[in-house]
Amino acid sequence: MTDARTVFDRHLPDQLPTPQPATAYAPSNIALSKYWGKRDKALNLPLNSSLSISLRDWGSTTRISPSSTDEVWFQDRLLPADDPFADKVLRFANRFRRDQMMPLKIETSNTIPTAAGLASSASGFAALTMALVQAFQLDLPDDTVSMFARLGSGSATRSLWHGFARWERGHANDGTDSFARPLEVRWPAFRIAIIPVDTGPKSHSSRDGMNHTVATSPLFGAWPAQAESDCTAIQNAVQDQNFQTLGQLAEANALAMHATMLAARPALSYLKPESWQVLETLWTARHEGLAAFATMDAGANVKLILEASSAADVKAIFPQSRLIAPFDPL
Ligand code: ADP
Ligand code: DP6
Ligand code: CO
Repeated sequence: MTDARTVFDRHLPDQLPTPQPATAYAPSNIALSKYWGKRDKALNLPLNSSLSISLRDWGSTTRISPSSTDEVWFQDRLLPADDPFADKVLRFANRFRRDQMMPLKIETSNTIPTAAGLASSASGFAALTMALVQAFQLDLPDDTVSMFARLGSGSATRSLWHGFARWERGHANDGTDSFARPLEVRWPAFRIAIIPVDTGPKSHSSRDGMNHTVATSPLFGAWPAQAESDCTAIQNAVQDQNFQTLGQLAEANALAMHATMLAARPALSYLKPESWQVLETLWTARHEGLAAFATMDAGANVKLILEASSAADVKAIFPQSRLIAPFDPL
């Protein structure tokens, strides 16, 4: 049976070199076509492909240095060894090191709210993977780095780059064909607006919410095929830079994902009354001509998709929104 350790074994040298200090940044990403449901929980193999846009300077920076004992620092604070955040980071590093005694100091910080449905697991595990690869001076293809990042968190496959990325679900049982690649599309006018509703940590992780939905929602059966065809249609709309088609498909895809959760038993709702208020306001404004669409993940915050020409209108309607220009240079 393939587990995460076997995957690392297959792609890494038996004996890793002495680690060097290394720092990596990865942007967070928002899926325009969602990953929701796994066919293999140990390997984070998805039931459907997904497509995302990265959030430029909203993301994670991770620094790795040799140390006398393992330490995990988050936002400049040393975490106790039994902290669940530290535990998840060290479990990933242990599989990568495969029992070779190379104690590491791992320092990470987020410019996004953590565990709030803004994909901190995506930027966090992408930055951790890139920092480990650099620290051990490994020269690996991007496909392999993306596959490694997947073992930490599925959405991390798509966070190695800026711009749009597509994570191909793949078909192999060992996951060797399940990784993301960037799309060769530059869309300078493309914008994301984050509308904060609740930036505190959620009560159910994306992982638990996803597994609960797959296990109990009678609507989940309709999801994988619909999501796969949405992903293809959304990729075509991105490639054609067809904003209306992209926006309509992305909003419908997000709402269909939330419908599977609402039908779970017991029901799961990451959206709060304020999230629905944002949607009502958006739908009214759209009826009056605003060209903006919404997408929501496993959290209450709403993200709008728009083009630069609508930015002033969006700001007037949602003064609390934070605008991101994904294609501006950092
Ligand atoms: P989100 O919507 O923020 O992705 P998840 O429930 O998917 O929420 O994942 C949150 C988890 O991701 C955190 O509890 C932590 O385990 C992990 N995580 C967040 N930031 C980082 C980071 N910088 N480095 C490593 N892991 C991180
Ligand atoms: C709703 O990648 O956080 O944001 O693979 O279990 O770590 P794990 O889950 P995660 O799930 C993200 C779910 C989503 C949709 C998406 O980002 O595609
Ligand atoms: Co996540």
